[in-house]
Amino acid sequence: MSSSPSFSDSAELDPQLLPAHVAIIMDGNGRWAKKRLLNRIQGHEKGAETVRTIVRTCREIGISHLTLYAFSTENWQRSRVEVEALMLLLKRFLVDERSELMENQIRLDAIGQIERLPEDVRKQLQSTMQLTAENREMTLHLALSYGGRAEIVRMVRAIADKLTAGGIRDEDISEETVSRHLYTAGIPDPDLLIRTSGEMRISNFLLWQIAYAEIFVTDTLWPDFSREEFLDILQAFQKRDRRFGKVKE
Ligand code: IPE
Ligand code: IPE
Ligand code: MG
Repeated sequence: MSSSPSFSDSAELDPQLLPAHVAIIMDGNGRWAKKRLLNRIQGHEKGAETVRTIVRTCREIGISHLTLYAFSTENWQRSRVEVEALMLLLKRFLVDERSELMENQIRLDAIGQIERLPEDVRKQLQSTMQLTAENREMTLHLALSYGGRAEIVRMVRAIADKLTAGGIRDEDISEETVSRHLYTAGIPDPDLLIRTSGEMRISNFLLWQIAYAEIFVTDTLWPDFSREEFLDILQAFQKRDRRFGKVKE
């Protein structure tokens, strides 16, 4: 994406060509803070504001599923101070956003190794998920202690258990079977994958699900990512020629 300012409007989007599922690797909070001589935690706090902006924008334009990579299985290896601060911020978000999620009919969902989260965070997560369970306008999926490879291992084990128990036969295993045993069972695959802060990598995010996602990497650091830039990316997405391996007639 160019960094030139633009003034995109959601009215310029074609409602027929909206992605059903947008997935975002929210990267660059630490660099944003460093540039301002702040600590990394302050970068994460500012990043949480961007989360609110992007969730609102998705709801406003009619995106059905938004998945945000908030904490990876690898992120547990960061300093204890940073991990604790991220968990605290997550807990705060889960409590503070309840009224907005309810007002906007947004369901909260989580994918990843939820059992590894601290108990107080899990409690708030369960409450917010329960509270919002009947909301139908949009689903916000938070990837928490999420890793694509760990998800695949979990899926293989679940299918192997069924094979052993005789519930299915190996010839019954299809792509559909695999999809149904991932955290994202029942959710359409992401059409659009965005990564902020310029890194050209996937960092273990949704490895199976992004097979045909359109990828956009922007140099903008996550705390600086805006509604305008998001709308620009959506417009550019609508101009992409998605061939899915086929040749246009
Ligand atoms: C993304 O920002 C947030 C998480 C991974 C939790 P980073 O913390 O990775 O920021 P950088 O990449 O160091 O700038
Ligand atoms: C990816 O960002 C994970 C999240 C955004 C939660 P990282 O900062 O952890 O990824 P790497 O280390 O640059 O690959
Ligand atoms: Mg990073």
